[in-house]
Amino acid sequence: MNKTGVAHTRRTFLGSLAAFFGLEAINNFSLIAATASLRSYAAEKGILFGTASSVVALQDLAYASLVIGQSAVTVPENALKWAALRPSPDSFNFKDGDTLCNFAQAHAMAYRGHALVWHGAMPRWFSSVANKENAEQILIKHISTVVAHYADKMHSWDVVNEAVEIADGRPDGLRNTSWLQLLGPAYIETAFRQAHGIDPKAVLVYNENFLEADDEQSERKRQAVLALLTGLKRNQVPVHALGIQSHLYGEDNTTSPRFGRFLDCIADLGLSIFITELDVRDKHLPAAVGVRDQMIADQYFNYLAFILQRRAVKVVITWGLTDRYTWITDYHPRPDAAPVRPLLYDANLQPKQAYDAVARAFKEAAVR
Ligand code: XIL
Repeated sequence: MNKTGVAHTRRTFLGSLAAFFGLEAINNFSLIAATASLRSYAAEKGILFGTASSVVALQDLAYASLVIGQSAVTVPENALKWAALRPSPDSFNFKDGDTLCNFAQAHAMAYRGHALVWHGAMPRWFSSVANKENAEQILIKHISTVVAHYADKMHSWDVVNEAVEIADGRPDGLRNTSWLQLLGPAYIETAFRQAHGIDPKAVLVYNENFLEADDEQSERKRQAVLALLTGLKRNQVPVHALGIQSHLYGEDNTTSPRFGRFLDCIADLGLSIFITELDVRDKHLPAAVGVRDQMIADQYFNYLAFILQRRAVKVVITWGLTDRYTWITDYHPRPDAAPVRPLLYDANLQPKQAYDAVARAFKEAAVR
């Protein structure tokens, strides 16, 4: 891009930021060139790259500029979960979800919905209000209202999140959630059919955690998820993609042949594969930052290079972009209490080896 082009991009870019946040003062602002971005490296290969975000974090303009420069898709980290959306059985609060939707639209990003059905982040009223008689209506009302609200605006919806938990001991591997207790295994099918009926064009995703590692528990989980998805496809349930969360541990082998076979079976079912919540936990890695950052970067590269060999993989989303804003700080701290470094930029918004690793994986990937 020539000088004039850069200047023009910078003006529009800062102008749109100002418009979005209603801010006058946008000085001392660093611009990341849109041409050298993960968004563009991924797009060259037909891959959509983006990140999860929150309204609070985006008020940090330096961070917002990174997101705008690097991402082609935005996912609300929490704003579309029941706890945020449903203050009471009869009301919906779309405020933050709409703010993030407008942010995505203002910056030519897709918007992704997370999550319509999950055992986590449920509002307090749910357990006292829901019973076997009304649970299906509560589920249907939620899905109908929320999917209709964002119809034609969503790239895709996580319809059901984390429905499998081997440790719960059921033969079918299903997690023993309130939804399962109230409605039986059919709640999964009901959710997908309802979402599809309301927005037939939406891409509908089954999203799951801990599918990547080379251990027995993960293998049993992969088999249970494969059986679940095979059954849904057999019953012609409208499910279009598997979301693999990819909250990786730095020390895990995430490129085993058995994980590879699982990915191939998923693709053979006709499903796309989305990497939906990628980050790398460093709580078991050495403290020295140089060593730790290299191990984290190696995990990012090895995992992405392996999984991107499958052309069914169309989307790569990280669960945050910078160590300044990451759930790992609270949920998976290091035993030595050193600051965690799970993402692509450090807490000063400087790119780390992990950024280069992700960029290289996109550059080396085949077009899809
Ligand atoms: C996490 C958020 O990042 C936190 O801010 C929140 O407090 C708890 O949930 N799997 C998921 C995500 O599907 O919704 C979770 O997000 C992380 C694990």
